[in-house]
This record gives sequence, C-alpha cells and structure tokens, in this order.
Amino acid sequence: MLQLPPLALYIHIPWCVKKCPYCDFNSHGQQGALPEAEYIAALLRDLEQDLPLVWGRPVSSIFFGGGTPSLFSAQSIGAIIDGVAARLRLRPGLEVTLETNPGTAEYDRFEAYRRAGVNRISFGVQSFDDGCLARLGRIHDSTQAEWAVKQAQDAGFDNINLDLMYALPQQDLPMAERDVERALALQPTHISHYQLTLEPNTLFHARPPAGIPEDDLAWDMQEHCQAQLAAAGFDQYEVSAYAREGRQSQHNLNYWQFGDYLGIGAGAHGKLTLPAEQAIRRRWKRKHPAAYLDTAGRPESLGGDELIAIERLGFEFMLNALRLNNGFEIAQFEARTGLPWSALAEPMEHAVSRDWLLLEQGRVRCTELGARFLNDVLDLFLPSE
Ligand SMILES: C[S@@+](CC[C@H](N)C(=O)[O-])C[C@H]1O[C@@H](n2cnc3c(N)ncnc32)[C@H](O)[C@@H]1O
Ligand code: SF4
Repeated sequence: MLQLPPLALYIHIPWCVKKCPYCDFNSHGQQGALPEAEYIAALLRDLEQDLPLVWGRPVSSIFFGGGTPSLFSAQSIGAIIDGVAARLRLRPGLEVTLETNPGTAEYDRFEAYRRAGVNRISFGVQSFDDGCLARLGRIHDSTQAEWAVKQAQDAGFDNINLDLMYALPQQDLPMAERDVERALALQPTHISHYQLTLEPNTLFHARPPAGIPEDDLAWDMQEHCQAQLAAAGFDQYEVSAYAREGRQSQHNLNYWQFGDYLGIGAGAHGKLTLPAEQAIRRRWKRKHPAAYLDTAGRPESLGGDELIAIERLGFEFMLNALRLNNGFEIAQFEARTGLPWSALAEPMEHAVSRDWLLLEQGRVRCTELGARFLNDVLDLFLPSE
C-alpha cells in the first residue's frame, strides 16, 4: 500500500547574470531589471493552484534553485517564504536552502537572507583555478568565491554547500585535487562534486572545448578527490554528494528517497503521492519565464500533468534510490511505490548475480561495480516495450 512520504518544496528562479556554456538548467541570461514582484506574485498563484494536492501536509524542506536565486533581493526571498508560510504548514526548523552564484554575493545580503528564513547556502564555486573558471565562462574568480563563502559564514550561516565540477577543460589530476583542498580550507559542511558533462543543447556540446580529460583520467580524479574528502571527514552519501556528519542535504535526500515534492516556478517539477487513488502524479510548469509569468496559477501554466505508469514505478524508484551509498530498505520501496517487492524479482536476480547489487538485512545497495556501471544497472529495471 502506498503511504505518504515527507513533502518538500522546490522554488525555481530562472535567471542568471549570464548563461554558462555548459549549463542546460532552465536559466536565462538577465536582460535589464528582473520582474521580481511579478514573479513572486506568479509563484504564489502557482502554489495556490497546487495546494489541493497537498492539503494538511507539512513541508519538511524548501530549496530555492536556479538559475541564480541570489539575484533576488533578501526582501523578495523573504516575501516568498512568508507567502509560502501563509499557505502551507512548515515543519519547525526545516532546512531552507538558497543557491548562490559567488559573483552575486554581498555581506549585507547574507545577513538579510538569514533574517528572511534561509538557513543553508549552496555556492556554485565550480573550481578555484582562475584559468578553469574563465574557460567555464564563470562571472567570478577564485578570490571572489572565497570572499563570498567567508561573508556568508560571518553573517552566521553554519550550513554551507560548495558545488565543484571536475574533468574540466585543461584540468589535470593535481589541479582537481587542489580544488578540493581549497574547498576544504573554507570549512563547508557539504560538498557536491560533479563530473562536467557535455549536455545536449549547450554551447559546449555544439563546440566542445579543447582538453576535456579522457574517461580514465576523470575516473582517477573522482577516486582521488573521494579519498581526500573522506580523509577530511566528509562522508560520500550519494554519487556526487559529500557531507559532514548530520549535514546531508535534507531536501535532496528526500528526492533520492522517492519522497514527494511540490515544484513552483518556471519549468519546476513536482511529484506527489495520491494514496486514495493508489497513484503517483508528476506535474511540471511551463519553462519559459515569459510564458510562465503570463499563465501561473491557471491550468495553461502546466507543461504536463500525468500519473506515473505502474510499469515504470520500479525504474523511477531505482533511478533515485540507487544513487544513495546506503541504498534503501525494501519496506521503503513498498511504501513509496505501492508495489510488492516481488515485482522486481527478475531484474534483482540479474543484478545480484552480476555483482551489481547487494541485498542484505532488508536493504539493497549498489556494489562498487554496480556504482561504476549505474546506467547498466538501471537499464535492468526499465519496463520492456
Ligand atoms: C543551478 S547551478 C548552482 C547555482 C548557480 N546557478 C551557479 O552556477 O553558481 C547547479 C550546479 O550544477 C552543476 N552543473 C551545472 N551544469 C553542469 C554540467 N554540465 N555538468 C556537471 N555539473 C553541472 C554546477 O556545479 C552548478 O553549480
Ligand atoms: S551554471 Fe548556474 S550560473 Fe551558470 S547558467 Fe547554469 S544556473 Fe546559471
């Protein structure tokens, strides 16, 4: 039987100072002043449209993602949090994260964000090598990034994530290790360490930059950085996520544990469990900011709205849960998909016999081999056509 999991709220802010050439997020280079007031009003209309799907359920985390949410003033972020609190019950002490580009950071802003209710900052640092940052088309250098993190800490933020990317154009192994060293020196509580991918529909995909490390070198970088992070007390709990004890991202953990989330803002995705219908629904909003602003709160604002087909549920659960180093409990699979564990008997048998998955005391997780070939593992759970 399907049971209600925790509920999170994702809020998308779709603008950046300038579009980065590797990025396929729904983000648009800023042209002139941002329509902050109109967008806040649109977000709250959007939320009201979704409310009947979550009546009475408390929200356990909020994540402002982008784009670059730190382009919005603290007053605007505060108005959004207040507007959410007036419409939904917030769990006391819930995690509230704001993604921040170090090129948009100021001390006064951090203090004001904290007073507005933000308690976790996630910085898009990417690298501390100024050559790498320039090749990535970033709007900040390493000094600015270090300064921004210190400003946030001085303003009282004690829960800070740094996003780093590796396998960057013209990066060698010592450079990747130096990035992790400099990140650790700033004493964050969380580090996300992503391999640069050439996403379709990006400038880097159309014209790949020179000197992208080969797979073997990228693998070495990942292994060395993983060891550095472990030695510094950062536990890898997901493919790309490392945290000090007790500092895992509650919001992202909820995604990976196949929890529920509302998504408001241009292009935002939501996933909601409907126990009465014994179904799981996905809905997403129109992507383009102008179209979103025009339609938010009305059915025309939906980019899509559908129930996940039962045949796909096992795959969708695995796609998230197998990213976690600790995997998942079988009981959680049953509660969050409504499927009996026996529904996965065949692919599980294959995965275990190939030494890709381990089943131990009611928990399932990837072996080292399975983690390395995660896409092949997931293929086993895809429904046959
Ligand atoms: C929405 S952005 C974070 C905040 C802010 N927009 C910034 O870039 O400073 C999310 C993160 O995804 C990662 N990312 C974006 N595009 C990527 C790509 N093509 N390959 C790997 N990681 C990527 C970056 O580390 C980035 O910080
Ligand atoms: S990486 Fe961040 S700053 Fe760059 S375009 Fe994407 S969302 Fe914007």
